[in-house]
Amino acid sequence: MVSRFLRNVSKQAIWAHQRLAPPAKFSSMAIHKGDMLSRQSELPKLPVPPLKESVDKYLESVKPFLSQAELVTTRKLAQELVAPGGVGETLHKLLQDRATKTDNWLSDWWLEGAYLGYRNPVVVYSSPAMAMPRQEFKDFKHQFAYAASLVQAVLDFKAHIDNETMSTEVQGKAPLDMMQYKNILGTHREPHIPLDKLFHARDSKHIVVAYQGNFYEVKVYDTEGRQLATAQILQQLHEIRVDSLEKGKGPQVGILTTQHRDLWAQSFENLSAHPKNRQSLQRIRDAIILLCLDDPLTEVTPWSTVSAQQLLVGGKNGENAGNRWCDKAIQFIVGLEGNVGLLYEHSPAEGPPVAGLLDFCAKQASVWPIPPEQSPFRPEKLDFTINVGIGQDIQVARNDLKKLVDNLELSLETYGKYGKDFVKSCGLSPDSYIQMAIQLAFYRTHNCPGACYETATLRRFLGGRTETIRSCSEESVRFCRTFLDNQANVKDKVGSLRTAVEAHKRYTNSAVAGLGVDRLFFGMKRIASEAGIQIPNFFFDKSMVVSTHFRLSTSQVAAKSRSVMFYGPLVPDGYGCCYNPGNDYILFGLSDYKDCPTTNLDDFRSSLRDSLDQMRDYLVADSIKSKL
Ligand code: COA
Repeated sequence: MVSRFLRNVSKQAIWAHQRLAPPAKFSSMAIHKGDMLSRQSELPKLPVPPLKESVDKYLESVKPFLSQAELVTTRKLAQELVAPGGVGETLHKLLQDRATKTDNWLSDWWLEGAYLGYRNPVVVYSSPAMAMPRQEFKDFKHQFAYAASLVQAVLDFKAHIDNETMSTEVQGKAPLDMMQYKNILGTHREPHIPLDKLFHARDSKHIVVAYQGNFYEVKVYDTEGRQLATAQILQQLHEIRVDSLEKGKGPQVGILTTQHRDLWAQSFENLSAHPKNRQSLQRIRDAIILLCLDDPLTEVTPWSTVSAQQLLVGGKNGENAGNRWCDKAIQFIVGLEGNVGLLYEHSPAEGPPVAGLLDFCAKQASVWPIPPEQSPFRPEKLDFTINVGIGQDIQVARNDLKKLVDNLELSLETYGKYGKDFVKSCGLSPDSYIQMAIQLAFYRTHNCPGACYETATLRRFLGGRTETIRSCSEESVRFCRTFLDNQANVKDKVGSLRTAVEAHKRYTNSAVAGLGVDRLFFGMKRIASEAGIQIPNFFFDKSMVVSTHFRLSTSQVAAKSRSVMFYGPLVPDGYGCCYNPGNDYILFGLSDYKDCPTTNLDDFRSSLRDSLDQMRDYLVADSIKSKL
């Protein structure tokens, strides 16, 4: 069997499973293992953060959102939690026991809680998209040629992963866990109730191409295990076009993968009942990636919005929504208008390894000037028999997606006045600085602080996933107020900015060191449920609700190419704000919901620009002043 059933995640997490897996063999070349995993043994185990210090850190983080009276109640509950011999101590001890018995006390729970057990549609709510630099295609031939070279780039990247020839990434001097790279290609999330299942096809030799809502299996290695030539892949793409135009558009079955997971799980069971469908589903499940060759869009401007819509939800008017299979970990999308990028199902990995794949492809892929060449294989159409029930489910999924898309605002922004270099030259952390710009933009737009989720990687630890950086702090609020105060002078403004950036950097450093608060609390609640212990009142306090109502869902996903990630907001009255800081520019992927009366993406976007402008202007003014 090429695929592995990874359902029992608590016993066999993906990363644990794959460490045990023998190396894949795709190439006829003698496989010489590189050093990608050579530092895995140096990775420490994720610590269980100390209870008292974590609770103190939490109490600091909730101050911007509570009145004095509310803070008194929160402190009282916190004292009860950390009291010697109390339930907090018991839960903490249980977590420490778990940490000694497992490679990573958190990862399996996180995989279940954040992903496989999360029931909202993966589209908008969970799967991020990444837009690559725009291409110019004269016609479908250019589109297909680019797509074929993109596939070749994916296969080259896969060879690096399989042969472990990538360098180990580091954070400072600390090596990072590289196993997430092993999880991104050939992985598939299948809908089940109450938990989805993850599959990983280690020895897969095919991709699946979606065209006009039809799905085709395309073999990409010859019988000796060598990658096909780009021109041979291209030939198969052309054959797909001819076949699809002859047979007509597909039944749009892929749109079911955009549904609520329980609904999709029911349709999936119904669909799988037919042997032919089952076979097609398995071929999709075991594919290395999905390649989506999209039909023309019905609206093509403004680019910053329509390309984002195409990549995240299949187009403003759902033109290409059925041309997707959103359970596949990686779907590359190549639109006729030159919009290219990917949509990725989040459960197996975080953004940075996906950005690594994308950077590699962005550098390597090009419009192939050579005509197609005969391939040893022909693409095979994956047929679906659609019964009445499934036909109705497709219609419902289409309507549900339309409501979601109609309500979603997206925008890809380039801030071109400066980037990381300027911020570093001021002696400030670029990430913390951008976070403060986001805080200021929110404060300026809403006249109040915005609780903010920023992703911190835990890949310094074996099997590490993420921790939350609580970017909104007392210092960030003081900075926002000072910056918006016309009476404050340059020195005060710059002083408040530096203090806020430093406070954020301190929190970041503790989060990446495995000493945040959110995953500890997640773990304490989870272990209480497992041990049949009542969850302490502390976890139901108002402070918990307001400080985790993340109106700002943010993340830095650094890419070398001018590419940017984006996703939907976390809460109905929030913003999604992902960024890629270049040396002299910053790319942002922004989102909000239209039906929220309080959010406004246009205002937020211009506030973000104003904030970045002003922060630079004051820093420059301050430095000129100090030189005088
Ligand atoms: N003065 C001058 N330079 C500074 C500085 C200062 N005070 N502070 C930091 N810098 C430099 C750093 O040395 C670094 O230099 P480099 O570009 O040569 O490596 C650079 O600025 C960037 O550092 P910084 O902006 O502080 O951020 P970071 O790179 O440490 O990243 C996180 C911080 C939180 C983004 C990172 O730790 C992380 O977790 N990334 C992954 C997030 C993730 O998983 N996202 C995906 C979610 S799907």
